Amino acid sequence: MSRLLLHGGTIVSADSETHADIAIEDGVIKDIGTYIEDYDEEVDITGKLLLPGLIDCHVHFREPGLEHKGTMQTESAAALMGGVTTVCEMPNTIPPTCTISALADKVRRAEALLENPNPNPNPIDIRFFFGITQDLHLAALLELLNGTSQELTHLRARCCGVKLYLDHSTGDQKVRDDVLEDVFRVCGQHHFPVVVHAEDESTNRVAAAQNTRTNVAVHSLLRPAESEAIAIERAITLAQKHSTPLHIAHLSTEQGVELVRNAKKCRPFDCAQGDTFSITCEVAPHHLIFTTDDYERLGTLIKVNPPIRSAKHRFALWQGILDGTVDCIATDHAPHTLDEKNNPEPLRSPSGIPGVATMLPLLLTIAAGQWPNPAEPNATCPPFSVRDIVRLCFANPNRIFHLGKHDIEKGVSTPIVVVDPAKESAIHASDIPSLCGWTPYEGWRVKGAVQKII
Ligand code: NCD
Ligand code: ZN
Repeated sequence: MSRLLLHGGTIVSADSETHADIAIEDGVIKDIGTYIEDYDEEVDITGKLLLPGLIDCHVHFREPGLEHKGTMQTESAAALMGGVTTVCEMPNTIPPTCTISALADKVRRAEALLENPNPNPNPIDIRFFFGITQDLHLAALLELLNGTSQELTHLRARCCGVKLYLDHSTGDQKVRDDVLEDVFRVCGQHHFPVVVHAEDESTNRVAAAQNTRTNVAVHSLLRPAESEAIAIERAITLAQKHSTPLHIAHLSTEQGVELVRNAKKCRPFDCAQGDTFSITCEVAPHHLIFTTDDYERLGTLIKVNPPIRSAKHRFALWQGILDGTVDCIATDHAPHTLDEKNNPEPLRSPSGIPGVATMLPLLLTIAAGQWPNPAEPNATCPPFSVRDIVRLCFANPNRIFHLGKHDIEKGVSTPIVVVDPAKESAIHASDIPSLCGWTPYEGWRVKGAVQKII
């Protein structure tokens, strides 16, 4: 059995940076310290940062049914390139993950990927959200949550929560109004996380009815900020009533941040059974980096739901990150082909942005004090550190979705991402194994890169 020594690196967790050597034997961290003498092979990683394999708790990997946009294999390769070793995958595939058999099929596919690791030498852990749009799906969820068979126990362990769309997005998965509260009730009883895509259908419908324009920037008016606020309020009310662990996906507005901030202050007596109520949220890199000004250069490439907002909203999202209101950064990695994106009618172009490979380099660049968006050369970076990256992209999603991952610590077997914080490079889609073959960050200069995963 050979013993590998990682020498000279800095171990980063959500709350510390420790300069120490690591001895790994048989995939297990056997020792962490300053003078480890007992080893067979030494790898010099002086000046490098060691991060736990990151968790992206919001991706769309498109398999099955949409393999022309991406497959579990291609999108996993993109994730690993970006230091992401665990992903939580959304249900809007074909068929959607709304039945036990659809979940079982995805779990089998993810396991097959691990059995045949080439060309991904590092394993990826794919967990799945269960989608619910109607009562049949809720019945299937109950079967999953209550099942005692070996098969159901196995599937339950791969399922990280329920995903609810409060308005249609890609895949037309809006939950029916008559089943919504029952989902919150059941998930409250089982302490099972509910992730909400928070946009309000009737607000969006009214905005669409008033619109006569066709340019892509109108997308941000068709799904207005109030729509997110109304949907978040609705979800919070239900979660408080039923003590449901609620997670708001891809928060994009100032009002949204404020609603989550206030809900987090809710004391037990404000809620029905508030002692078990928990509300968390995520933001996506594209909402932290782009504003509506970027439509001019990037057009439909940044058409996404919820839409890109103004600088005022982006500022509020960063405030939410700095004061701890925002729990996670998650990519909402949603690849579409360039042909689809280049629809001659921009408003018919599919919404969604790929991002699982580029999240870490972009965040490392911001942590290094360099604002990555080349359209804003004079922008200053918010105070942000690599520890924040580990908190937002590892520790918090790990806790919220009960993923059972470990920090880099003695006695555990865990993927270690070796990051070179000084390496400068440019992002090119041609280097990213994602099937869609494009990125809205094409040509952007970044500082900090994944060197390897051990
Ligand atoms: C997602 C997609 O393409 O699957 N698109 C998006 O704009 N975010 C769907 C979704 O989750 O809304
Ligand atoms: Zn999504």
